[in-house]
Amino acid sequence: MRALTYHGSHDVRVETVADPVILADDDIILRVTATAICGSDLHLYRGKIPQVKDGDIFGHEFMGEVVEAGSAVTRVSKGDRVVVPFVIACGTCFFCAMNLHAACETTNPGRGAILNKKQIPSGAALFGYSHLYGGLPGGQAEYVRVPKANVGPMKIPDTLVDEQVLFLTDILPTGYQAVLNAGIGPGSSVAIYGAGPVGLMAAACARLAGAEQIFMIDEHPYRLEFARQAYGIIPINFDEIDDPATAIIEQTAGHRGVDAAIDAVGFEAKGSPTETILTTLKLEASSGKVLRQCIAAVRRGGTVSVPGVYAGFIHGFLFGDAFDKGLTFKMGQTHVQALLPMLLEHVERGELKPEVIISHRMNLEQAAEGYRLFDKKEDDCRKVVLRP
Ligand SMILES: NC(=O)c1ccc[n+]([C@@H]2O[C@H](COP(=O)([O-])OP(=O)(O)OC[C@H]3O[C@@H](n4cnc5c(N)ncnc54)[C@H](O)[C@@H]3O)[C@@H](O)[C@H]2O)c1
Ligand SMILES: [Zn+2]
Ligand SMILES: [Zn+2]
Repeated sequence: MRALTYHGSHDVRVETVADPVILADDDIILRVTATAICGSDLHLYRGKIPQVKDGDIFGHEFMGEVVEAGSAVTRVSKGDRVVVPFVIACGTCFFCAMNLHAACETTNPGRGAILNKKQIPSGAALFGYSHLYGGLPGGQAEYVRVPKANVGPMKIPDTLVDEQVLFLTDILPTGYQAVLNAGIGPGSSVAIYGAGPVGLMAAACARLAGAEQIFMIDEHPYRLEFARQAYGIIPINFDEIDDPATAIIEQTAGHRGVDAAIDAVGFEAKGSPTETILTTLKLEASSGKVLRQCIAAVRRGGTVSVPGVYAGFIHGFLFGDAFDKGLTFKMGQTHVQALLPMLLEHVERGELKPEVIISHRMNLEQAAEGYRLFDKKEDDCRKVVLRP
């Protein structure tokens, strides 16, 4: 089959590789009908995630048709059209029982990303996301093996086309969980850092939750303008406004700050020359630029919600300010499985239309160009969908 494979920083290629086969009796093989490139794939693409090997297949946002099912698979069958969560969960362990599927302690044979790990079991395996997360082949391919098929894959009604449901695999639940974690409700004010796909999904979900004032911060005018038109956000371009938090606070009642801030950027945040140098020299793993902005923009007693990915140390984390303001922090990988049925209903009712953010539709064979455009933010690229 054909698949997108990694060969070093900024070098991905579509190559012919071995077809996947069933390995466990609760596996299925999926013929991929649509797959997307995620901002998380860009961390891999830029060589920022350890334990990615030459030839690894990327891709954790995919859907398709079941072409083969192991003997113990009961939830889906051959011919079904399904979306697949990027998190692989067993459904029965301590964490799965609490609906914390990203913490599933049985699916990841890798060591996970915690530095000071001690005896703690690794969190869930992820598709196509380095050997820290299990080393499983991803779904930017013609076919993919999906383990734990009685837990992850969800059937999709024929009334919905692929593009309407593809983002249920990751970015829609991620935006939703970010809003849930931020405690956003009717009348809330929120600052969303990052106008990429995750920030856009968070804006859509914040609107759904009844947020009144949504600030969005990025440096790409085309992304901010799209978000303004689609979700009525108040744009702040950090290329023009050096300290977005000051600009945000100025526009909030009593200069108190926003109820919540969402960091939809993560560890590769731009804007701190010191941290850019430190991370390039690998003296530090993450840029704390956006986290510091979030802590500064939020009101006392507010919440900082972090869907953006972080790794290792950050210097200049203003914990004292967070303490003085009495802030709550919530973060982590998305517990996709728990959110899917409810989000599918929102999509069916037309209350969430995640597909509107798609800017590029390409063939799988053009995937390397898709990565390049999405990474460089060229051609007004917001989100790339690939069809094998
Ligand atoms: N928690 C999860 O389960 C989960 C799931 C999906 C994605 N993610 C993570 O979410 C993050 C965003 O993903 P995406 O697909 O939207 O990626 P993206 O790279 O397309 O978007 C990131 C945006 O942040 C902007 N940005 C950079 N520095 C900034 C700064 N200092 N202030 C404000 N904006 C800044 C960039 O210009 C870009 O538009 C990534 O870190 C990704 O790994 C997490
Ligand atoms: Zn992702
Ligand atoms: Zn589990």
